[in-house]
Amino acid sequence: MSLGDLAHDPTRDPALPPGFRFGTATAAAQVEGAATEDGRGASIWDTFCAEPGRIRGGDTPAVACDHYHRYREDAAMLGDLGVDEYRFSISWSRVLPDGRTGADGSGVNRPGLDFYSRLVDALLEAGVRPVPTLYHWDLPQALQDEGGWLQRSTSEALGEYAGVMGEALGDRVGRWLTLNEMNVHTLYGHALTDHAPALGMGLDCLPVAHNLLRAHGLAVDALRASVRPADGSACEVGVVQQHFPVLPATDSSEDTGAADLFRLLTNWLFSDPILRGHYPEDWVAELVAAGTGLSPEQLAADLAVISRPLDVYGVNYYEPTMIEAPRPDTDYSGVLEVDIPADMPFSPVRLSGYERTDFDWPIVPSGLTDILLALHERYPGLPPVTITENGCSFHDEPGADGRVRDTRRIDYHRAHVAAVSDAIAAGVDVRGYYVWSAMDNFEWAAGYAERFGLVHVGWDTLARTRKDSWFWYRDLIARQRRAPAS
Ligand code: BGC
Repeated sequence: MSLGDLAHDPTRDPALPPGFRFGTATAAAQVEGAATEDGRGASIWDTFCAEPGRIRGGDTPAVACDHYHRYREDAAMLGDLGVDEYRFSISWSRVLPDGRTGADGSGVNRPGLDFYSRLVDALLEAGVRPVPTLYHWDLPQALQDEGGWLQRSTSEALGEYAGVMGEALGDRVGRWLTLNEMNVHTLYGHALTDHAPALGMGLDCLPVAHNLLRAHGLAVDALRASVRPADGSACEVGVVQQHFPVLPATDSSEDTGAADLFRLLTNWLFSDPILRGHYPEDWVAELVAAGTGLSPEQLAADLAVISRPLDVYGVNYYEPTMIEAPRPDTDYSGVLEVDIPADMPFSPVRLSGYERTDFDWPIVPSGLTDILLALHERYPGLPPVTITENGCSFHDEPGADGRVRDTRRIDYHRAHVAAVSDAIAAGVDVRGYYVWSAMDNFEWAAGYAERFGLVHVGWDTLARTRKDSWFWYRDLIARQRRAPAS
């Protein structure tokens, strides 16, 4: 199957509803740099990256894209691109170096807060709506030292931080996202050791999931109490989850059972509490109660906070996962980007028959339609969806003429936007699509080797070069704006 086929008809743009919003996304730890400047405190990612062997090539986010200093240029470029919205994240430890406000507010680092205020102004000046995410995995190290997400108090600290941000930016920023991909953060960083804080707790990490979910709920309340856009527009709050289809390798009951369990632990465990107000199965709730020491009444009270109604449901999509029941004497290492421990009752199978990105991820646009339909079916009250991340790493470099001919990225995005329009045609309320990412950046454990950007960043010079995909996206957005309302 070729990417051209997957893109349906590449000569025609997909049908999207009027008002559909295009955007791009980044995260603080991946683009900002300036790790120790202007009073910023360390985050768990600074600590993790300083440990030998954690990051490919020994890379660190200390400089990254230097967005902290180049934000004006970056905001102007987003204006040229014509995106409606820009999703960025706020570095908690830049604003609250110790993670907490302090009783008299003395914990707030003014220069850190001012940076985000300037960024918001630069975006608005460029005609781009700022959409901040409060937490994209970079917990202040000071809070990790107190036990991090294993502590209930960390959820409360995030709620207070949300209030600080809402007060500071809520006159100009109406649309907010609370946490990014609690599932990846819980599993990669707490169950496994591939991401910070590398706790390797296996299934004992369930309290982390619960505290992240509760932090989300507390942040929703704090934002609603503090955000008052001066233009009279509404305060819109949402969350960002990574979702993906989980496919059983065969129809056998062993394989479908393994896939069901994997799907539950990686997808529904994090969306059911928010969208249904309970954990997906009683045994999960029992494990959460046992791990957190909460009584049934306390758990119910937490779930009421966790399931506050939302205005936006953010879906990040990259690839489906195929799962089978573990076969004896089979080596599953290297099948996925991170290895599932051998003692788990599910194992990954390499998806064959699809083209792959340079990060070796299969390209399956129909998986995006499928997961959107699955969410639509599972959650009758699903809030309007925005695809808050979708993207691919291709390693294309500037040619002798300086042009970056990343045609595979163009095909990728064209196919995925078409997949979104298929979901809309089938009845899912999707209102926006953000490309991951606005520019090449620090790709977590893979360092700078993987390039997801519409804009190439030269790691020696930090020069920004608009790739062919950037021009394609700009033109797509312009055409959509001109398209007659259907
Ligand atoms: C994360 C991004 C990351 C992207 C590509 C998502 O899971 O939110 O921070 O760069 O995937 O790996």
